[in-house]
Amino acid sequence: MTVLPPPEQKAVYVEEMFSRIAPSYDRLNRTMTFGLDQGWRRHVVEQVAPPVQGRALDVGTGTGDFLPLLAAWAREGLTVGVDFALPMMQNGVAKIEHLPHHAAFVNGDALCLPFPDNCFDAITTGFVMRNVTHIRAAFREMWRVARPGGAVACLEVAQPRNPLLRLGHWLYFQQVVPALGGLLSGDSRAYRYLPQSARRFPPPPALAELMRQAGWSEVRYRLVGFGAAAIHVAVKQ
Ligand SMILES: C[S@@+](CC[C@H](N)C(=O)[O-])C[C@H]1O[C@@H](n2cnc3c(N)ncnc32)[C@H](O)[C@@H]1O
Repeated sequence: MTVLPPPEQKAVYVEEMFSRIAPSYDRLNRTMTFGLDQGWRRHVVEQVAPPVQGRALDVGTGTGDFLPLLAAWAREGLTVGVDFALPMMQNGVAKIEHLPHHAAFVNGDALCLPFPDNCFDAITTGFVMRNVTHIRAAFREMWRVARPGGAVACLEVAQPRNPLLRLGHWLYFQQVVPALGGLLSGDSRAYRYLPQSARRFPPPPALAELMRQAGWSEVRYRLVGFGAAAIHVAVKQ
């Protein structure tokens, strides 16, 4: 049975769902990815390499896992995480309060970012594009706030190409994850949404094309986690 909302209800549905699961989000993320997710995030940040005095933005930041990684590069600059689910950011405050330089959470929508044009050197987004109502519009917003020469990197779920791995991935993602997520978070609906939204998500070449259509140049991607996730990188010319 589908738990996916119709497009006109998606934003409210997603915001409420992440607000509900916020307290258990980090623990479940680590468990479900076997702890691989932080390595993927580190790799994403290396791809955009924020300058020491630069400005870095993480879109759909959730509990802010990207922020300490970005701030370690932009250590004399500014690091901002934006999300529309306040409880997710509230659960991540401890990750940024010890940072020596400017890092902040901002409440806002990825489809209407509360920042001027051309202001960020580096933009990351992880496991978010599956959740937005309009993927190309979200990439266009990131393009708008990136400065010319700035880079974006997007981490999202994918499906392994190898048939055997694909089967294992399907069993794990479609069967184990909803059960495990339901058990650990007490919210089985949210963890049925995860595999169902992943099934609908464009495969890496199609996502690359959406990024190009949104204005991004030099779009490339690589698969990680045996093809279970993809990292897309691009530049604003
Ligand atoms: C799966 S979590 C990912 C969190 C974090 N990026 C990470 O790597 O763990 C997705 C996050 O995207 C946020 N999100 C989804 N759609 C959004 C939108 N239109 N505007 C702002 N945040 C959004 C959700 O609230 C949630 O915190």
